[in-house]
Amino acid sequence: MTGTANEYAPDPKILDPIEIASRDEIEALQLERMKWSLAHTYENVAHYKKKFDAIGAHPDDLKSLADLAKFPFTTKEDLRQNYPFGMFAVPQNRVVRVHASSGTTGQPTVVGYTQNDIDTWSHVMARSIRASGGRAGDKLHVTFGYGLFTGGLGVHYGAEALGCMVVPMSGGMTARQVQLIVDFEPKIIMVTPSYMLNILDEMAKQGVDPRDTSLKIGIYGAEPWTEEVRKEIESRADIHAVDLYGLSEVMGPGVSAECIETKDGLHVWEDHFYPEVINPETGEVLPDGEFGELVFTSLTKEALPIIRYRTRDLTRLLPGTARSMRRMEKITGRTDDMMIIRGVNVFPSQIEELILKSDLLSPHYQLERYKVGNLESLRAHVEISPQSGLSLEEVQKQGTSYLQKAVKDNVGISIDVEVHAPGKVARSEGKAQRIVDNRE
Ligand code: DLL
Repeated sequence: MTGTANEYAPDPKILDPIEIASRDEIEALQLERMKWSLAHTYENVAHYKKKFDAIGAHPDDLKSLADLAKFPFTTKEDLRQNYPFGMFAVPQNRVVRVHASSGTTGQPTVVGYTQNDIDTWSHVMARSIRASGGRAGDKLHVTFGYGLFTGGLGVHYGAEALGCMVVPMSGGMTARQVQLIVDFEPKIIMVTPSYMLNILDEMAKQGVDPRDTSLKIGIYGAEPWTEEVRKEIESRADIHAVDLYGLSEVMGPGVSAECIETKDGLHVWEDHFYPEVINPETGEVLPDGEFGELVFTSLTKEALPIIRYRTRDLTRLLPGTARSMRRMEKITGRTDDMMIIRGVNVFPSQIEELILKSDLLSPHYQLERYKVGNLESLRAHVEISPQSGLSLEEVQKQGTSYLQKAVKDNVGISIDVEVHAPGKVARSEGKAQRIVDNRE
């Protein structure tokens, strides 16, 4: 690998002191900030006041962090009902930026930021890039979309705050991305993992060896990706692959980030975002270490404070390693992505892992849901790997029987497999669409 991970680990002297403070210090700060956030929300957002009052919860009831469980959850639906600005806790003339998620159904969700919020966001995003191995003076190529999506502008402000030279490329124009990587020689790329795989294919097409480029670190996020994808990118491109998480409702990218020296899950920036993991069916708070749905409460946000937001992301909380703040394990799925195929719960990541284990298949895939009569079925669309050294017909035979057997053995369901020629499976330029629903 180009430079060991330790080589990029920051000297503790340049960290924010709170990143390596004691748990007691972190929790004391959280409690103080949580009290402020609950009161700010209750006093300034009618929707929250109504919800708190309905179950008899008052901000003064919070005496310890565990008391947060007395307060109601917030969901995407709450934001939709209050579209566009009804959840804002400050007058609109204090809001300096909005972002919105398109959402596949219904109203988009709108989020807003005061100048202090933008500063906090830039700060945690800069901290995230530093954790991933970035430093002032590094050149950094951003492929996340600029616009209503929080990805582009969110990481951009963070990279500038850290002192990087930012190339605000945005998504798409893949041939151009490769040209600018070759010409501008960035050290860091920020990209969705699925788009990175697409860029690596484009490099191969242009005769550019990704191992020879200036890139040393890739910071990947905005969609779930497995350890197998990490291995694939690191071995194919000789670039450290580090995870970055966030969501618009809580802030945007920079809610949690992986440290390059450990690559063992994402440290949650707990001084600004308080995490809980709950049983998604009962809402009960689970102890650290148990799997469930991730829930966040903002501790410092002014324009759009958010209390117990149900992310639908599935993970568990683990103790800190490279930092004192707790880690969330790499997210492997969302409750919305869970398919129930003939009674078995299946996540795309389970199939992704198996596709990536095969040398015959490329990492690009899509899962098609369809019905035979009333029976739910699943078809994996995959591609022959250009490195397989075999004919398409041969890979269609061998790849299909490999994947069918692997899925049967590991996931417990029978699926159809279609192996296509290179380039035939839809490519991503941002968040990949892993599931195509043809059940109607
Ligand atoms: O995707 C923010 C972001 C931009 C994060 C760039 C990282 C990098 P949303 O569009 O609101 O915001 O989507 C949030 O994306 O709830 C997860 O389901 C998923 N997601 C984001 N990062 C990761 C990650 C941005 N590292 C939703 N691993 C979240 C897995 C992720 N899923």
